[in-house]
Amino acid sequence: MKKYKTCVMGCTGIVGQQFVKMLNAHPYFEITALSSSKQSAGKKYGNAVIWSMGGDIPEYAKDLMILETSVELLMKKEVKIVFSALPSTIAKDIEVALAKEGIYVFSNANAHRMDDDVPILIPEVNPEHFDLVKTQSYKGKGFIVTNSNCSTTGLVLGLKPLLDFGLTSVIVTTYQAISGAGRHGVSSLDILGNIIPHIKEEEDKIERETRKIFGKIDKEGIKEANLEVNSSCCRTSTREGHLESIVVELNEDVDLETISGAFGSFRGIPQEMRLPTAPEMPIIVRAEENRPQPLLDKDAGTPGRAKGMAVTVGRIRKKAKRVNFFLLVNNLIRGAAGTCILNAEYGIKKNLIK
Ligand SMILES: NC(=O)c1ccc[n+]([C@@H]2O[C@H](COP(=O)([O-])OP(=O)(O)OC[C@H]3O[C@@H](n4cnc5c(N)ncnc54)[C@H](OP(=O)(O)O)[C@@H]3O)[C@@H](O)[C@H]2O)c1
Repeated sequence: MKKYKTCVMGCTGIVGQQFVKMLNAHPYFEITALSSSKQSAGKKYGNAVIWSMGGDIPEYAKDLMILETSVELLMKKEVKIVFSALPSTIAKDIEVALAKEGIYVFSNANAHRMDDDVPILIPEVNPEHFDLVKTQSYKGKGFIVTNSNCSTTGLVLGLKPLLDFGLTSVIVTTYQAISGAGRHGVSSLDILGNIIPHIKEEEDKIERETRKIFGKIDKEGIKEANLEVNSSCCRTSTREGHLESIVVELNEDVDLETISGAFGSFRGIPQEMRLPTAPEMPIIVRAEENRPQPLLDKDAGTPGRAKGMAVTVGRIRKKAKRVNFFLLVNNLIRGAAGTCILNAEYGIKKNLIK
């Protein structure tokens, strides 16, 4: 199969590194460019990056010269697909400029998530939203597709099988790992041995993005779901993996076995299409009374390329129509680079990428 010339923007950051790792020997993408800030540009990747992923830096990336993040330089490299792991303020203009030049942008950044013509895509949850790119003003050229905030990705995957039982409201409390704040995000003095009950703008993002992702799409765009979502977010001193305590109200009084079965048997389009980064089981149910845990469940998902792509659900409890459970999502993989790659794989299989 043809491989697409691809760039990772923000390649030295924590999500950028996750991309570099996951894209090693990928069957659809050939990384021909890596870009970052001026501070890293002009250096070999292996010399510039402070590698946090474990194992070695993939061979293909070690000697690649980092480019400054500019449309001109990426055009010169004839890049067709870009994975963006840039800070939102930097991503805002350049992602639009790249799409106008015919480049397909798959972004982790928040900058365009709530734009009317940009989908927030989690392909197991709302694959039909991909069609929104046809309404983007750079029609016939490139486009921008985003994935959601890391906690939202886990949340909507866990909620999707419950929609069949008439989901009416959601309360979520998150315990989010330090890596969610980026390489320089939280000072060790503030977080070691501590929990901080505030993450800037996170609660608002979870509530708005969830309603958009569950919205119905028609010719006029997306009509947000009429779902009550209430969230509270904490930063904890874990390294990787966001734990979420979720309480939902359903229309139906469904027994625990049925709920657990709905989680465990849930499959989506990426599984049907056998996309390279799709986990065989997107939701893994644990019966143990002390799971899921970040340390034990952050790598859930098979086969190898889908490691970290499954969310883990456990401690499912109910009182009448109210159901409680915990969910663990790997913020760097399923919550960031992995879903972004899955979106691009889906776009290729859907023939939306030429
Ligand atoms: N961390 C997560 O769990 C997570 C989850 C979902 C979404 N996201 C989103 O993904 C994006 C990246 O997050 P991160 O956690 O990887 O952040 P990070 O570790 O701080 O990395 C930021 C990256 O952006 C580059 N950069 C900074 N300023 C730049 C500029 N002016 N021009 C070009 N490049 C610049 C940095 O390059 P230098 O090293 O050269 O400065 C670095 O490669 C953010 O939008 C974030 O909100 C993160």
